[in-house]
Amino acid sequence: MAYIIQHDQYYSIHGDRPLTGTVTVSGAKNAAVAIIPAALLADECCVLENLPHIADVSILKDILTKLGAQVEFTRGDCLKIDPSTINTIDATSKEVSTMRASYYLLGAMLGSKGEIELALPGGCAIGPRPIDQHIKGMRALGAKIYMDESRNVIRAQAARLKGAEIFFDVVSVGATINVMLAACKAEGQTILSNVAKEPHVVDVANFLNMMGASVKGAGTDVIRIQGRKKLHGCSYAIIPDQIETGTYMIAAAATRGDVIVRNVIPTHMEAISAKLQESGATVTEGDDGREFYLRVSMDRRPRAVNVKTMVYPGFPTDLQQPMMAYLCTAQGTSVIQENIFENRFNHVKEFRRLGASITVSKRTAKVRGVELLHGDDMYATDLRAGAALIVAGLMAQGESRIYNIGYVDRGYEHFEQKLSALGADILRLDV
Ligand code: EPZ
Repeated sequence: MAYIIQHDQYYSIHGDRPLTGTVTVSGAKNAAVAIIPAALLADECCVLENLPHIADVSILKDILTKLGAQVEFTRGDCLKIDPSTINTIDATSKEVSTMRASYYLLGAMLGSKGEIELALPGGCAIGPRPIDQHIKGMRALGAKIYMDESRNVIRAQAARLKGAEIFFDVVSVGATINVMLAACKAEGQTILSNVAKEPHVVDVANFLNMMGASVKGAGTDVIRIQGRKKLHGCSYAIIPDQIETGTYMIAAAATRGDVIVRNVIPTHMEAISAKLQESGATVTEGDDGREFYLRVSMDRRPRAVNVKTMVYPGFPTDLQQPMMAYLCTAQGTSVIQENIFENRFNHVKEFRRLGASITVSKRTAKVRGVELLHGDDMYATDLRAGAALIVAGLMAQGESRIYNIGYVDRGYEHFEQKLSALGADILRLDV
């Protein structure tokens, strides 16, 4: 798997065809990118199953290898991580700065080695993304943290982390998970309040507990962690991806199709199922004895609906962009309010090229539904914007070409193959 985010390919989509059939969801990206660094907290090997084949997983594999860990794919979707051979605390390589989730090395390495030098995280361009809450949490646990602004590097060090009570000023997925990782190795009890409740926060907590940690309350507003001196190895299967599931559900409705999305956790999807139903789509839940599935079908123009992004269990910010594509052809005007990130409307100008009628004021977009979109060239500016442009391309009459698809490769496994299997006319071509 190549990890470099490349933009030398594009998608050519001939849209205006309904998606039909069955698609199987992969392991959750945002759980995987936390659980892979979390494996560094163990004294033994961990085997992670159901990992998605995406660029972010490959980048992390490389980063861990550079730290001295032994990391190998043992089967298609299984990664074996042996952290016992780690021989450096230098995580300042170029790969580290290319991905935002590399911030989880801060908690994982402080917990396991008591020290790290970390390149400041990069990632998708969706507005300012500070890490002050991560730092506040680590400092509360007793870590000393220095910023080397000339090198864009953080140095963190703690002879012994000590449990603490921490109230986060904002609900942050990353800060919740990061501080949880470090606290698993701290002396005594840590109580984290005003924490994120996203499914991947719970998945990371379950993984830590499988390694012998004591993490209680994940999925509620307060997490209690009893620190342990040692954590052992384990095998763990990562949950299905909530955002990938939602992307296929929205694409099914947006193309007026009929799709069964398999390997899902329906309770994670309630906000999305409810919004699609409100817009007139049919969403049914089932269990085939092996897996849960959701079936989404739609046979007419959707009704306009209003969407406000919220922390879980609200409507996820990561699906705001694909949902906006869907609502471009709704009957009436939809109001979409982005409450999590300041600058997550970069896709709007791309949708306008297709004939969409959207106005944006600060964090609110008004989408006046048009009858049809017409294919054109579009440029992705981040991962979920890329997914949204693909949904728009699938809806539009004629050809759409979507550039900068390196962003999409960060988070969607076999996207064009899965869409082709649902009847989409989509090709990956060299620029
Ligand atoms: C995670 O980002 C996800 N990334 C994002 O997914 C997702 O959009 C986001 O959570 C919200 O659900 C990963 O899990 C790797 P936050 P994260 O900390 O942790 C503010 C995708 O496309 N904040 O929950 O970086 C922040 O600015 C990606 O898959 C602070 O002020 O998000 C934002 O407004 C994109 N200080 C809000 O909190 C901090 O220290 C929520 O951010 C941290 C965050």
